[in-house]
Amino acid sequence: MSLWNFKIWKLSHSPFNSLICKCLALVVAALVLRAVLFPNFSGVDVRGKLVVSDIRARPLEKDSDYGIRQGKYVEVPQIVWGLNNQKIAFARACLTARMLNRTLLMPSLSASLFYKEIDQLQPISFDKLFQFRKFNSLCNGFVRLGQYSELLNQTEVLELQKGSGRKWTLVRDFDQLKEFSRDPYDQYEVIRIVGKNPFLWHDHWPVKDYAKVFECLALVDEFAKEADRVVSKIRAVGGEAIGEKLAPELGQGANGVRSKLQPMPYMAVHMRIEKDWMIHCKKLEQRSNINEICSSKEEIIERVGNIKELSKPTVIYLAVADSLLEDKTILNGWQEGLLPFEKKKLGVSQIYDKYPYLIKSAIDYEVCLRADVFVGNSFSTFSSLIALERTQKMIRMGVSSSCNNSIRWPSYAYNIMGDFGGPRKWLTNMSDTSLQAISYGSNHVTC
Ligand SMILES: *[C@@H]1O[C@H](CO)[C@@H](O)[C@H](O)[C@H]1NC(C)=O
Ligand SMILES: *[C@@H]1O[C@H](CO)[C@@H](O)[C@H](O)[C@H]1NC(C)=O
Ligand SMILES: *[C@@H]1O[C@H](CO)[C@@H](O)[C@H](O)[C@H]1NC(C)=O
Ligand SMILES: *[C@@H]1O[C@H](CO)[C@@H](O)[C@H](O)[C@H]1NC(C)=O
Repeated sequence: MSLWNFKIWKLSHSPFNSLICKCLALVVAALVLRAVLFPNFSGVDVRGKLVVSDIRARPLEKDSDYGIRQGKYVEVPQIVWGLNNQKIAFARACLTARMLNRTLLMPSLSASLFYKEIDQLQPISFDKLFQFRKFNSLCNGFVRLGQYSELLNQTEVLELQKGSGRKWTLVRDFDQLKEFSRDPYDQYEVIRIVGKNPFLWHDHWPVKDYAKVFECLALVDEFAKEADRVVSKIRAVGGEAIGEKLAPELGQGANGVRSKLQPMPYMAVHMRIEKDWMIHCKKLEQRSNINEICSSKEEIIERVGNIKELSKPTVIYLAVADSLLEDKTILNGWQEGLLPFEKKKLGVSQIYDKYPYLIKSAIDYEVCLRADVFVGNSFSTFSSLIALERTQKMIRMGVSSSCNNSIRWPSYAYNIMGDFGGPRKWLTNMSDTSLQAISYGSNHVTC
């Protein structure tokens, strides 16, 4: 109950753009070369791009048990709400189709936030944001996306009405799917799922299945390049700021601190401190009897400053809601050696301003994902999906994902106290049997 309310709250009260993007507080931590955190930074190419995209370029192992049949499809309604809610709903649609051994017809996403512009959902085809062919090639043997042009007979459609409300339980939902995987339903070319809010579908799949789908999502070149530009800017501005700080003692110019081949590491902090979030999270804390959901600006700043492994100076990119970009105080109060920037101070606002909500958010997501260190709130879907993808990335790269200090792309949850007064180290439990914790927030962060 409280979980649903939480989600609904986010959808109905979050300021435009803040819901998803606030998370992106990308802290550019321009760690100096010797940063303890990055002893062997081999996961970075010459241009300073982290290896996320390379990891994604590796196809998943073929799952030979699975038979996605030719000529059988699932169709779903337009996918709505915030970026990360849309990603979860999309993955859920893929996994539903997989369960039915069917291809998912490429759905529409929504470029704007549902609750703000109810008449202007701005449908945007999946392949405007993510690469269609790459998705199918990476997810080959696991799930498949299809085009409407593949359909033989547009009239051979069976509607599957999703239930809703309290009586529509997990078990009933699953029984319905099983029923529709048998004849007579199964012979239809298309099963069209109808009902509102695919996001609210019950969750029948393990975290690792979601993670596989997320891994197949690669931004189209246009937006991937924008994310590259932002990351480069963070590294460059961070390098300069740190160069200036170090120049006197090292006798080096602004550009001299790191070799050109060595990308400047950065840290991203997704700061959720907007007024309406603070009101909401206080209520949620009371209702759920958990007192580690809200963190004030001061608490976040203090905990980030206490991260033991961080070498200073470090550049921090703050991913905050647009409403906070006017608030100069978020740049104040950071410990000596922590150099905070947000979009505006970084001079990248014009990159974001060109795009509707969904694209902005997707760029921000990418920037946080690639950060060398990420700090977020474990009750934010945005932060949670980033932690999940970063955990998955470590597993793929063969970096042992333990809570030990040595992990290469650490994530932290600032809303939970960790060692030495710092934020708690955060890994996603990839053995979890559902995405519940990630969809609705949790203070179980494994470490
Ligand atoms: C899907 O394919 C698997 C393996 O081929 C099979 O065991 C399963 O019964 C199929 N399910 C449906 C709904 O066709
Ligand atoms: C398409 O499907 C409908 C309903 O099953 C059927 O009546 C019709 O003959 C089919 N058309 C073709 C061209 O197969
Ligand atoms: C952390 O590292 C130490 C030494 O490398 C090891 O003994 C310990 O088991 C590790 N802890 C975890 C949780 O992996
Ligand atoms: C991860 O999830 C599994 C399945 O729910 C559970 O058994 C296990 O204890 C969890 N591990 C941690 C470290 O929370």
